[in-house]
Amino acid sequence: MTDFNEPEAKLEALLDIINSSAHQAIAEYKKTGHGVPSADATTFHSLDLTTDTLALKKAIRLLEGAYHQLSSILAPPQHTVMNLVFNYNWACTGVAFRARLADVLHQHPEGLSVDKLAEAVNLDKVKTARVLRALTLMGCFKEVERDIFANNRLSLILKSANNVGCYTKLHSQDGPKFAEVVYETMIDEEFSRSHELDKAPRVCAFRKEGMKDPYYEAMENNQEKRDVFHKAMLGQSEVLGASAVLHHYPWNDISSVMDVGSGIGTFSTPLAKMFPHLRIINQDLPKVMAQAQNAWEKNAPETLLDGRVEFIPINFLEDAPVVGKDVYYLRHILHNWPDAEATTILRNIRKAMGPNSRVLIHDCVMFHTLQRPGVGTKGSSVAPEPMLPNFGAGSHNTYQTDLTMWFAFNSKERTLEELEIIGAAAGLALTQVYDLVDTMLIEFRIAGQS
Ligand SMILES: C[S@@+](CC[C@H](N)C(=O)[O-])C[C@H]1O[C@@H](n2cnc3c(N)ncnc32)[C@H](O)[C@@H]1O
Repeated sequence: MTDFNEPEAKLEALLDIINSSAHQAIAEYKKTGHGVPSADATTFHSLDLTTDTLALKKAIRLLEGAYHQLSSILAPPQHTVMNLVFNYNWACTGVAFRARLADVLHQHPEGLSVDKLAEAVNLDKVKTARVLRALTLMGCFKEVERDIFANNRLSLILKSANNVGCYTKLHSQDGPKFAEVVYETMIDEEFSRSHELDKAPRVCAFRKEGMKDPYYEAMENNQEKRDVFHKAMLGQSEVLGASAVLHHYPWNDISSVMDVGSGIGTFSTPLAKMFPHLRIINQDLPKVMAQAQNAWEKNAPETLLDGRVEFIPINFLEDAPVVGKDVYYLRHILHNWPDAEATTILRNIRKAMGPNSRVLIHDCVMFHTLQRPGVGTKGSSVAPEPMLPNFGAGSHNTYQTDLTMWFAFNSKERTLEELEIIGAAAGLALTQVYDLVDTMLIEFRIAGQS
């Protein structure tokens, strides 16, 4: 048994985890028959385009968690703490996306001089070069010759048609604006102790700009915002690897699925394609439903032919969904809402459930960095020692998403215990947890059933 009280034993164990998890990741790429990705690749690897990357993401969770823990022990603390704040990658990514640098470079696979690139997007060439150099340092874009840049596998993500590109836009434009006022809201009398939706940092930031903006209502009335948002939701699903749910839940044992707050069908469209036996109902706000119908007609017309897919508008804060479905699925819904509203949504669903119905909550789940042995994980993964039990920086996406929910909605990602509490308040009991790395799928049934 390794003695983790020995500092050097800890370092060696972290190195072992880095080594073994990197080999696991390499093996996942090789399994596709297309070898490992290269830093010089100018196209996506076939694994980048699949919906089940769960095994790869499990390896990366270990790799990133162990690497950051090791580096934070070995590097001077001044260096590590400054790394936390000294980081404008979001701003450079925002410039690259908004100026469509990757779109222009796509026309020049062999590379384009920064002068011509800057001219094509009407920006200053010296400043454009500085943005590109900062991103190239992180592996995004490639300097093929001095001052000649080309796309690579990472920068392809920043093309304007890419869903994840749209998601980067939300985070590089809106996110920093809300984050900037967080401390201010924490000491302001009106905002500081409130967990109400209308006291989110977002509200404070918009108020400063003289704007009132109830998020989803504002979007209902703005088609362009809706288009970007729903594309970004597709991107979010890719980033979090949430489509693994298509492969790791027993959909063959289910007949009907209600996608509550479906958006344009990020989850339900691939579900309908993969499982043609399923009857699917999409429910969201009226204008989103109209947009969803258009998206389905364009992307999955074959699934609409026999009437097994329906679109029914709903306000889930006021109405119960259609009754008696096998599964009521909520992806990235409850995390948008403080506890009172989240409980109302679950209570409305509970009213519609039959004895065999289950609710699937699909969100990020928070775990403490100190885990008492055997308590509270409900079968979800715990990192091997000496890593932090919640995988530390390997859970970066979960913890940043939690902060995003706070800054934008005064809401949160929840622990399993917190989900159990709001479930119980709606008459539901937790029955199973599926660990999908950045997100978890948590199954609830009517409480009191055996
Ligand atoms: C974060 S998005 C998630 C969309 C989708 N489930 C996904 O995973 O991509 C939240 C969704 O909730 C919908 N929504 C917000 N308020 C709603 C309400 N009161 N009633 C019904 N849907 C609502 C939004 O329109 C949006 O599509």
